[in-house]
This record gives sequence, structure tokens and C-alpha cells, in this order.
Amino acid sequence: MAQHRFYSDALYDRNHREAAPAPAAGRSSLPTLRFLTCGSVDDGKSTLIGRLLFESQRIHDDHFTALERDSRRFGTTGTDIDFALLVDGLEDERRQGITIDVAYRFFNTGSRSFIVADTPGHEQYTRNMATGASQCDLAIILIDARKGVLPQTRRHATICAVLGIGQLVLAVNKIDLVGYDKAVYDRIVSDFLGFAAQLTFSHITPIPISARFGDNLTAPSGNMAWYTGPTLMATLDRADIASALDELPFRLPVQWVSRPNADFRGYAGTIVSGVVSPGTALTVAVSGRTGTVQRIVTADGDLDSARAGDAVTLVLDEDIDVTRGDLFVPPEARPAVADQFSANVIWMSEEPLFPGREYLMRTGMRTLPVTITAIKHKLDMGDLKKLAAPTLALNEIGVCNLSTSSMIAIDAYKENRATGSFILIDRYSNATLGAGMIDFPLRRATNIHRQRITVDKAARARIKHQKPAILWFTGLSGSGKSTVADLVERSLHAAGHHTFLLDGDNVRHGLNRDLGFTDTDRVENIRRLGEVAKLFVEAGTIVLCSFISPFAAERRMVRDKVEPGEFLEIFVDTPLEECIRRDPKGLYAKALRGEITNFTGIDSTYEVPEAPELHLRTGGHTAESLAQEVLDLLRDHGIV
Ligand code: ADX
Repeated sequence: MAQHRFYSDALYDRNHREAAPAPAAGRSSLPTLRFLTCGSVDDGKSTLIGRLLFESQRIHDDHFTALERDSRRFGTTGTDIDFALLVDGLEDERRQGITIDVAYRFFNTGSRSFIVADTPGHEQYTRNMATGASQCDLAIILIDARKGVLPQTRRHATICAVLGIGQLVLAVNKIDLVGYDKAVYDRIVSDFLGFAAQLTFSHITPIPISARFGDNLTAPSGNMAWYTGPTLMATLDRADIASALDELPFRLPVQWVSRPNADFRGYAGTIVSGVVSPGTALTVAVSGRTGTVQRIVTADGDLDSARAGDAVTLVLDEDIDVTRGDLFVPPEARPAVADQFSANVIWMSEEPLFPGREYLMRTGMRTLPVTITAIKHKLDMGDLKKLAAPTLALNEIGVCNLSTSSMIAIDAYKENRATGSFILIDRYSNATLGAGMIDFPLRRATNIHRQRITVDKAARARIKHQKPAILWFTGLSGSGKSTVADLVERSLHAAGHHTFLLDGDNVRHGLNRDLGFTDTDRVENIRRLGEVAKLFVEAGTIVLCSFISPFAAERRMVRDKVEPGEFLEIFVDTPLEECIRRDPKGLYAKALRGEITNFTGIDSTYEVPEAPELHLRTGGHTAESLAQEVLDLLRDHGIV
């Protein structure tokens, strides 16, 4: 592990946090350019970064000696120095199973400091790339001159554009291996520019380089008289640096409200953009309440002013209602406030995105439920065509409409990358599923208010002399759900209860006749039926629902829609072999012959309930005795 010596300059983001270090460099007198390198190790990425670090004299002498020694021992370049060894430790750690999303490296040229976000890996690491790219001013896209523009090149360029990076360097590497041939270079450049013309880059600088031999890195190459453009380092030295975060409007997401005693009330958090000083008026974005900053408190005493990156506690001149997740903004530069918006979403999970499923959205210090209400289109990363899409698969990018459970502050990503971005999280496993960049708020439901209704659920239930509930029968097709549900309803009805039976087959003739059996359609099927079931509960009814409902997430979503105790999950557990044997509608036979696809249990999943209120093992029992078990359950839960 000799290579690890060289990591003294590197800082790793090990914890999936989006935060690139707010490094000392950002505070030094030198302007700082953040850039991203895209490409695989095979394209010469490690060699390029190693070479840049080396050329900028950031490698100390002892490191250099060690590098010479390691090159001889492990390198792939004979007696030459293998610059890739400077950075390949990263791949090494990956092999040991340590997750590293983005490595940040620092160097400077005397006129500028540089922060390189290096994202390891190949095509599938869109997530890492998105993490690194979101703070960069420029991206270097590496191409192996022997291979030309690859699908991966197009993917990288597209992601950079979606992440708002305006400047691109197209580094055509290994030009030595094609004999410094201008024709090869020209073909690659025109190939790439033809593609990238459709993207939103403000500058694209193509440069022929050899990372291994240093051609056109810091000095013009003697091997390519035909190239008259700038060197890579000169390009980096001259690239535009995004206006510093502290020049943007003030934004502070409140991390917690600090109230150690009755005399002190402060709002703590890290300033993500802008500056603040005592006397500044601040507004809480969603509520619109305004106060004036009295003190800026830190562990090292009060400050006269604070700026982006500072962790502070603000004390206002009066007590206003502020909670964790609120966003402080200046009254004259307020974000939009909405609960529906349009965004670019990069999907990063093996399981596809399902419109209608409830996810969590995390932005700033706020985490709240969100659903994707529509995928407007997804991007074909080969030709940038906009494709209709019912879902987004791993690594796909789509323009989506999203709907949050309550109002949030909305900054466009292009105006403020920190407050305009978010991640999507699985409600139950907490895994990161996607990342998003907000485009604009949707003003659709803003004039729709909830109407107050005098006769409520309790009143309706009272005159029916019952407790409303959802009896949710889930299980494979042919497991006996509908038969048992029917018997239960007959008993309840005979006893004078007000009931309704919603059955999968029946609702698919009406309300849901537009839906099929893809995973996406099943999610939407259950989302709608959950809303319907909830209305029946509001009506004071005992509603029996008989749907396969194969996904745990949607079953939980319905459970969460009503009050605790109102949702009873009944798992009708009949083994698949038995369902196939019964095959009441002949559908299993068709599915097994391949005449029906997406059939539950055959080529579509069923997620077994983990903690149903009732687990009905049907084997060896009559439908009547199973129905009795359900009635007993209702009695135990005080429903009847
Ligand atoms: S769910 O998965 O979306 O909950 P739902 O309960 O509404 O399914 O509908 C299931 C019924 O549709 C089954 O009982 C069966 O009669 C019929 N059906 C037709 N095609 C399929 C299929 N591909 N998979 C499962 N059920 C199907």
C-alpha cells in the first residue's frame, strides 16, 4: 500500500455527503477553480491527474523519490514514472470494498488554486459523478484517441450539462499512440461537437494531449505543430470561475433552534450562500415571517458578519416561529414557495422510479414526502432525444413533475445549486435513490384549498354504529382473497354493518381500465385504490379491498393514509404451486405458456408482507373458517 503516502493532499468524501470540502483554498487570496474529471482509468484519467499534481510542483521531493521507486515496482510504464500511481490508490481501496464516492485533490499554479473532483469508476457510477459535478465550474472529458467518442463520453457530457457545468475541456488523450495524427484528432472533435451542440455548454475547448508524456499539459507540445490552441493548464488558468457562493442571495437552512434557557433563542445552521451581519432583515421563506439579525453567535464569540460556509447561530430581534428545516432568506430575494415543481432527476437505484410511489425528498435541512406525478420525458443519452417514459431506470435522466406533501422554498438549480438541488430517498430503507435539480415551480394547485366539512368521519361512523376500517386482503392471484373477502362482507352485512368490497378485477373495468400490469401501472393502481379506500373510511364504512398489491411500499402508503388501527393487512397466503393448480381463470396456464407477461408469481414479483395484522395460511382450511379468522380479528381490534 505504498501509494497511500501520496494521499496527504487528498481529502475523501466517504459518507455520500454532497459536501465538497470548503477548503482553505476557498479562503486563500488565490481564486479557486473547481473542476471534474470524467473518464475511466483506461482513458488515462489517473495519469492525467497525477501529472497535473506533479507539474504544479505540489509533490514534495520525498514523495517523488517514492514515486520513482513504486513506478519501478508496480508501474506499467517501464522505467518512466507512472503518474497513475499517484491516484490509483483510490481504485485500490475500492477493491477492498471501501466506498469512496469522490476524491478531492488540490493544487495551485501560483495564480490560481484548483480543486479536482475525481470520481472513480465507469459508466455505472453516475451517482458519484453527480456528487462531484454539482459544485464544479468546468469538466474535463477524457477520450482515448484510439477509441474516439464512446457512449460513456456522451453520458458524461450529458450529465455535466444537466448539472449545470458550462465549460468543458475535451482532452483527446494518448495522442502519441495514434502518431500525433491531426486527422484522428479532427474526427473525434467534430464527432463530439456534433453531439454536444444540443447541450448547453458555453465553452468547449478541445485539446490533443498525452498525459503520459506531458504533451500540451503545461507547455505546447513539440510533436503537434498543427495544434495552435492553449495548453490544458492555460485553459484551467483562464476558465471562468462561478461567482462565489457569498455573492448569491443569502440562504440559511435552520438545522436546529437553540434554546438553552429562557433568555436565549437562536437559529443554528450553516450559511449555504450570501452574507449576513447584525441589522440584516431576514424572512422565513415559507411562512413569510420577518425579523432582524441582532447577533451572530459562534463558539469563538460573536461575529460582525458571516458568509457562505460559516456555521453560525443567528439571534433575531424578536421571537418568530421558526423550526428545523426552515430557510432564512432576505425579504427582497425570496425563493418561490410551492408544493409542485419541475426538475431534472437522475435515477441512481437498481429499482426503477415509480411515479405515484411516495419517496422522501431531502433538501437543505428538510426531509419530506414527495411523489413524482409525471415523467415528462427521459433523455436518450446517445442522441439526446426526448423519449416518453413510464419510469426511469438506473442512471437515466428525466424531466419530472414532483409534488411535495407541504409547501417548500424553491430556488432554481441554475440560480443556486445548493438550495436548488435535492436527493430522493427510500422511505423505508433510507437508501439514496436519485438526485434532482429544480427547474421551476408549477403553479397548478396553488388556488385549491381544503374545504372544511362539518359532517366528518366520526359523525358518519356514529350513525352507522361502527368503527370504519380498511381490510386489506393481499396475496397472489387465485390465493382466495376475493372468496374470503366476499364471505366476510356477507357476515358483516347480515349483522347490519355498512360495508363495501373493492375488488381488483372489478375496478379494472372502470376507474382503472387505463392500467395494465407493469410495475409502474400496479403502483398507480394501488395509489388510486388507496385514495378510494380512504374515502370509504371517511364515509364511516368498513371497506374490504382485495388486490394482489404486490409491493410493500404501496401497502404501507395506504396504511399511512389513515389513522393507526384503521388499516388491517390480511395476507392470504396460498403457495404459488397451489394457485397454479387451482388456476380459476386459466391465467397461470397462459402465463406459463408465455401468452401473458408480467404475471405475478411467474415473471413479476410479490413482496411478502412482513408484519400483517393477520397471516391466513389457507392450506387445509375452508373458506368459511378463514372468514371466521378475519371476523375474530375485527372483534379483537374493536371494529365490530
Ligand atoms: S395488482 O397487482 O395491481 O394489485 P389487481 O389485484 O388489481 O393486481 O388485479 C389482479 C387480477 O387481474 C388478477 O386476479 C387476475 O385475475 C388479473 N390479471 C390479469 N393479468 C394479470 C397479471 N399479469 N398479473 C396478475 N394478475 C393479472
